[in-house]
Amino acid sequence: MTEPDHGDHAHEEHEARYAEGDAAAWERPLRSSELYEPSRRDIFNFIDETKVDYLRPLLPPDGRALEVGAGSGRLLIRLGAERPYRLVAVDYAPYAARAVRENLRRAGREGAVVFGDARALPFPDASFDVVLSGGLLEHFRDPLPVMREMARLLRPGGLFYADIVPRKVSLYRWAERERMARSEQLQEGIYESDLPRSRWAALAREAGLHDVRIVSAGVYPPFTMPDHERLVWKYRSLVRALDATIVADILGFFYMVTGNREAGSAPAERTGLPSRR
Ligand SMILES: C[S@@+](CC[C@H](N)C(=O)[O-])C[C@H]1O[C@@H](n2cnc3c(N)ncnc32)[C@H](O)[C@@H]1O
Repeated sequence: MTEPDHGDHAHEEHEARYAEGDAAAWERPLRSSELYEPSRRDIFNFIDETKVDYLRPLLPPDGRALEVGAGSGRLLIRLGAERPYRLVAVDYAPYAARAVRENLRRAGREGAVVFGDARALPFPDASFDVVLSGGLLEHFRDPLPVMREMARLLRPGGLFYADIVPRKVSLYRWAERERMARSEQLQEGIYESDLPRSRWAALAREAGLHDVRIVSAGVYPPFTMPDHERLVWKYRSLVRALDATIVADILGFFYMVTGNREAGSAPAERTGLPSRR
């Protein structure tokens, strides 16, 4: 999940240091909030716990799990605590490899870290039981090639999961609404999509997924409120009861997308790297 942007990063095309899609735009030191420490009562662990609660009944019993654009790999590692998965993380930015290795070490887990581009993933068709991404798909002007790649890697009956933070008004990101209205960029080189939920559902089906379900979630106090983390934990039942409701459709700040590959369905057509955008 993308952390809120506290600064003014109005994008000036001619001055941008990073082209869209550059791994370098993501490169940075590891944040303490990204360290795997499930007992820490911050907003990131609250969100991760919400996702795991949502996914628990859908998880295949075992097999291989892949996180694409893994960043810290925290969600992948949490799923590895739920089921005896073999864990694989793929990302194209060096910070992510450092982060995932550190978090696997902290969790006492084995796992593979692979450098790769989400638009052409270096794995054979149908080689994973779970393929997930968090805060990745909204960073592509055309997310379909990435979704096709994720669907291609799923074995029939496997679970697809993606969470998406769209560029839209939400209570949590209230302070960012003006920036969102005037800039497509989260920060230099990092595009932020404003596709509506219905369009994401259509894309998931186009990518070859079945039983596509999208729920809105994350009606949290504004991140600018000093006590927001304590409040979500204190009122966690109430906060989570708002997920998948119309209140979350309006004020929530992320979507959770699930789907699967039907038994016997052919892998979605593989798409190569699009020309540089
Ligand atoms: C917002 S972060 C994801 C954070 C992650 N879910 C976490 O919990 O730390 C997006 C990640 O996607 C990666 N990414 C973006 N575009 C990519 C691409 N084309 N191929 C591979 N990784 C990509 C970035 O390097 C970054 O680590």
